[in-house]
Amino acid sequence: MAIEILSTGKYVPANRVTNDDLSKTMDTNDEWIRSHTGIGARHLANDEEATSDLAYKAAMDAIERFAPGKAAQTIQTIDLVVVGTSSPDYYGFPSVACIVQDKLGLTQAGAFDVVAACSGFVYALDAAGGMLTGNRKRALVIGADVLSRITDWTDRSTCVLFGDGAGAVLLERTDAPASGEGKRGIISSILGSQGSGAQELICLRGGTRHPFKAGETIDKPIHLYMNGRAVYTFAVKAFTDTIEALLEKEGLTLDQVKKIIPHQANMRIIQAAAKRLSIPEDKFFMNIEEYANTSNATIPLALDDYNRTGELKRGDVIMTVGFGGGLTFAGNLIVW
Ligand code: ACO
Repeated sequence: MAIEILSTGKYVPANRVTNDDLSKTMDTNDEWIRSHTGIGARHLANDEEATSDLAYKAAMDAIERFAPGKAAQTIQTIDLVVVGTSSPDYYGFPSVACIVQDKLGLTQAGAFDVVAACSGFVYALDAAGGMLTGNRKRALVIGADVLSRITDWTDRSTCVLFGDGAGAVLLERTDAPASGEGKRGIISSILGSQGSGAQELICLRGGTRHPFKAGETIDKPIHLYMNGRAVYTFAVKAFTDTIEALLEKEGLTLDQVKKIIPHQANMRIIQAAAKRLSIPEDKFFMNIEEYANTSNATIPLALDDYNRTGELKRGDVIMTVGFGGGLTFAGNLIVW
């Protein structure tokens, strides 16, 4: 039994905001943002769009790509909806996954969200794959965020980094082998956490620890706080350790891996990881220039963009690798 990705899909909002656009309203510039991060633009949700809207559109894209013109039939074969997100439509509940399930018109599916910040999609893939047992055969796994709603737009050191988007995959338990000759699908995953670093990347206000109180004057909406330097250091180590651990677990070398699909947080993190691993930077598939950091969405967005290049062939070994608030880190080794 293998857990295979059947198709990929994505959605980004139409509103494309370049670095030059940002420099008109804040003290920043294209040269600083590009040289420090590799970001050239981001897509931002409009006032009517919430995370579930993006998630639903990415899901429909994956469903349409799987069986063009047969979305209605495909939808009814989905047993599980799992969404990785850090910016749900509503505080606590309902989950984004339930809203997507309803929008799809699914009546017989379980649905829940995974909260692991930017590692969320990798966690969600592993969780969904592990749950495809018995009568549950097919899952929709989505990474979606509208981080622009929880970004402090007066803080130039964080707001230039983020964008909004969603990516999705259809996952299925198939009869292909999961080990040995001709193995396919999600072969192995690593999930890690380091809660001692919780304060380095955090939404401080609005939860049960520091709730907003009636009558309180609020000068800023809920927003994320990030210690950029600390996160950078954690990220480079998390990337390299996760990649090396996945290789060791499966007895592979990096030569045997066609592409690594990393969380797109900063081009410089990738450059540092590539240097540590002594591999060329183009071993990593990058699209940060166009979308910036879309948190849970970066990995499925990148996987979809890479899939659309046509380079990804059956039997290719690829990896996902992510890190994020929590702190968390995670990776999947996949044979396409
Ligand atoms: N435009 C122009 N100048 C800026 C900007 C900006 N947007 N932002 C900061 N600067 C200035 C600073 O004020 C500072 O100026 P000073 O030296 O006069 O004080 C200078 O640039 C350097 O600032 P640093 O913060 O030291 O810049 P650094 O090189 O460390 O890069 C960055 C900052 C890009 C945030 C880096 O630390 C980083 O990428 N960290 C990791 C972030 C990350 O991966 N986040 C992922 C989060 S995942 C999740 O779960 C959401």
